[in-house]
Amino acid sequence: SRVSQAINISDLRALAKRRLPRMVFDYIDGGAEDEVTLRHSVDRFADYGWQWNSLVDSSQIDTSTTVLGETIAQPFFISPTAASRLFHPRKGELAVAAAAQKAGIAYSVSTLGSQTLEDIAAVAPDVPKFIQIYVWKDRGIVRDFMARAKEAGYTGCILTVDATVAGLRERDPRNGFSIPPSINAKTATQAMAKPGYLFDMFTSSPIGPANFESVDTGGRDVMAVINDLFDRTMCWKDLEWFVNEWGGPFAVKGLSTAADARRAVDSGASAVWVSNHGGRQIDTSVPVIDLLPEIRAAVGAGVEIIADGGVRRGAHVLKLLARGANSVALGRAYLFGLAAGGEAGVTRALDILATDVTRGLSLLGVPKVADLDGTLLRLCRP
Ligand code: FNR
Repeated sequence: SRVSQAINISDLRALAKRRLPRMVFDYIDGGAEDEVTLRHSVDRFADYGWQWNSLVDSSQIDTSTTVLGETIAQPFFISPTAASRLFHPRKGELAVAAAAQKAGIAYSVSTLGSQTLEDIAAVAPDVPKFIQIYVWKDRGIVRDFMARAKEAGYTGCILTVDATVAGLRERDPRNGFSIPPSINAKTATQAMAKPGYLFDMFTSSPIGPANFESVDTGGRDVMAVINDLFDRTMCWKDLEWFVNEWGGPFAVKGLSTAADARRAVDSGASAVWVSNHGGRQIDTSVPVIDLLPEIRAAVGAGVEIIADGGVRRGAHVLKLLARGANSVALGRAYLFGLAAGGEAGVTRALDILATDVTRGLSLLGVPKVADLDGTLLRLCRP
């Protein structure tokens, strides 16, 4: 198939662009406002240059890593993203989770996921699974979601804190886009250009937040759900409630300052997740790779740090690890694969990155991924 010929994530992005209506592609590909954070997230990696260790036995490469207390085969895993069935109407999250299972890496399901917790767990029985929380104003809904997730075998909880309101993603209104998509002159024209996608969409069940079907969203689209139905009064004093209610490994996702990272740990979180939501929230934020050393210094060596944003190559994963992260989350890299070719496309994306990571560790003379540190990385352009 065409996905097997993709050599890098950029090739999968091109295939995704060919397959998806423009408004759906732009929803994955785009970012907030001037998309400065989005571009910097990718470009900043090149400003850090490698040195390498020579003449190290690299016949055995160990890429295994711990995330939220669980061991995974690679130093990366699936970040939570909304409504995967938009990009692959039949399978969505199920295609991604099945590929994660095959790759031996963790899967995270978004609050706004379009398949049920139970169906996802059934296709990924052997890999760690996490839930991501956006906080409904009705706390009972959150409590029920957590209980259901535990029952279904999810072991980690991720609270996303960088989305008090939805960022201004300007491509969406320009394309007439919403979730679920509404039919108007703009979207109809874009959809008509991709008959294969349209066929899949019309022959599958309607797309919505599958784990909250009983919640009355008043017909709102996803951005309006975020803006109207999620709790903006949330502050630090509330965090302990979530940590205790979950009672297991807990990450706070979307942290940016050393003081907040420290505070998350003091409130009981087991992991701090440094992220700018892939450039979809506040624009012109400091790239995550620049922040990691100060976050590491603030929380100390024993606390787990997860990082994400802009990862399109295995070398990007390795650079985030070298700067202080323990594991790295993927967003668009797997979504481009999903849109390009369902489960096979996600598998291709994960294979590309896994091969990159193994090759990179060999070339760096660091056979164990857990041994990477900042000594081989230098900021070449400030
Ligand atoms: C996201 N992200 C996200 N994060 C989250 O906590 N809950 C969510 O529902 C979503 N939804 C979502 C949708 C789409 C289409 C994208 C691209 C991203 C953010 C995601 O988890 C992650 O932080 C970023 O995607 C990382 O950046 P890259 O890897 O996409 O550059």
